[in-house]
Amino acid sequence: MTTQEEQTRSQLRFPAGFAWGAATSAYQIEGAVEADGRGTSIWDTFTRTPGRVVGGEHADVAIDHYHRFREDVGIMAELGLSAYRFSVSWPRIQPDGSGKANARGLDFYKRLTDELRGHGIDPWLTLYHWDLPQALEDAGGWPNRDTALRFADYASTVHDALKDHVHTFSTVNEPWCAAFLGYASGEHAPGRREPESAVRAAHHLNLAHGLAVQAMGAARVGGCVNLYAVTPATSSEEDLDAARRIDGLQNRFFLDALLTGSYPRDVLDDLGMDLDFISDGDLKTINAPIDLLLVNYYSRFTVSGAPGGKASAAAAPTETASPWVGSEHVSFVNGGRPVTAMGWEIDQDGLLEVLTRVARDYPRLPLVVSENGAAFDDVLEQGRVHDAGRRDYFDAHLRACREAIEAGVPLEGYFAWSLMDNFEWAWGYGKRFGLVHVDFETQRRVLKDSALWYAEIIRQNRRHE
Ligand code: NOJ
Repeated sequence: MTTQEEQTRSQLRFPAGFAWGAATSAYQIEGAVEADGRGTSIWDTFTRTPGRVVGGEHADVAIDHYHRFREDVGIMAELGLSAYRFSVSWPRIQPDGSGKANARGLDFYKRLTDELRGHGIDPWLTLYHWDLPQALEDAGGWPNRDTALRFADYASTVHDALKDHVHTFSTVNEPWCAAFLGYASGEHAPGRREPESAVRAAHHLNLAHGLAVQAMGAARVGGCVNLYAVTPATSSEEDLDAARRIDGLQNRFFLDALLTGSYPRDVLDDLGMDLDFISDGDLKTINAPIDLLLVNYYSRFTVSGAPGGKASAAAAPTETASPWVGSEHVSFVNGGRPVTAMGWEIDQDGLLEVLTRVARDYPRLPLVVSENGAAFDDVLEQGRVHDAGRRDYFDAHLRACREAIEAGVPLEGYFAWSLMDNFEWAWGYGKRFGLVHVDFETQRRVLKDSALWYAEIIRQNRRHE
């Protein structure tokens, strides 16, 4: 080992018991959309609607994890993961979104979690990663309050069936995306472009979170948010106001609701709409005590209140509207950092900023980085993928985690996004985020260089466990 490598490793030393993970989600990896009584989800419908996903791609087969989960858990064991974050497909459990559970759907997650535990890997279960049963969308979707009540029922069904298999549950993955990409910009399923519906959806996703926490009783449960560092382009008043607005809708709207039981006044004013769908007591429900907060972090936004910038931080692959309800005039400018294949700026300092800020503003809550990663245009050459860019991305962000811990942030784990290349929503299969390369034709899995590097970091950290 060179001195430099030794240094790299010693600096990436984490406290004992730190969760070393990787993450995926059901629709992005499972395939088998008709197996064992699964119902239709909004993503099945959306991917079949022309013009929504690049190349008309869908995830009917995806990376066939439903049939290959044993091989995939074997790969996780090879990496030395101590934890694996995955999501349950709601339409496998309740094909029409309500009523009696489909035992064959639940059985898949029992087999998966048994396999994980058999390899000493702790299963972290996400209840909702965007695959709403189509029947619930037909009844109004997330803008309809009843969807939140259905979700609580689904949560308690999953919890009852899997509580002996799973120690840590989380509710809604990235409610901002589910609400504002799904119902305002239309980039994600169900593809509606109705700003007011998106705000209703956001509130009902928060409510669904709180009701689910209550419904799962004694479970260890977390909420999950996608946070961005936000910087004004200049110190002009209009840019400062733009930063306040974007930080407000992206970050504080969810953090304040979940962790303080209130919506930020300035954000409600920006939205400028009738909020009659927020009932008395909702915020108390949303503020149900949680055991930890899952933070997904990818990038920083540099924003401007002056006209002329881009309407979104990165190009959307299809025609979309603005997700920034109430602040559509805000634009996104180039912050001058290197970008990933998504066009997202790489900024590990933003992760440190976000973690220390959450620990300061909402103290005493254990945190985990539940997603962090990068897409690059990987090339498979003679059975290897030399993805130095991804390795450097992970290295830099893990250093930021390390610094956060040194600064007193109660950070308890890190989950790389993603374990394997998979279906990247509106971008289809063209954007690869995996530690593991997947040939989408043959389904062959190959560990990229970043995976070998991550395995070594994990091995160094876990060797005294
Ligand atoms: C966040 C989402 O949770 C995940 O599904 C997605 O693939 C990654 N970001 C990358 O865009």
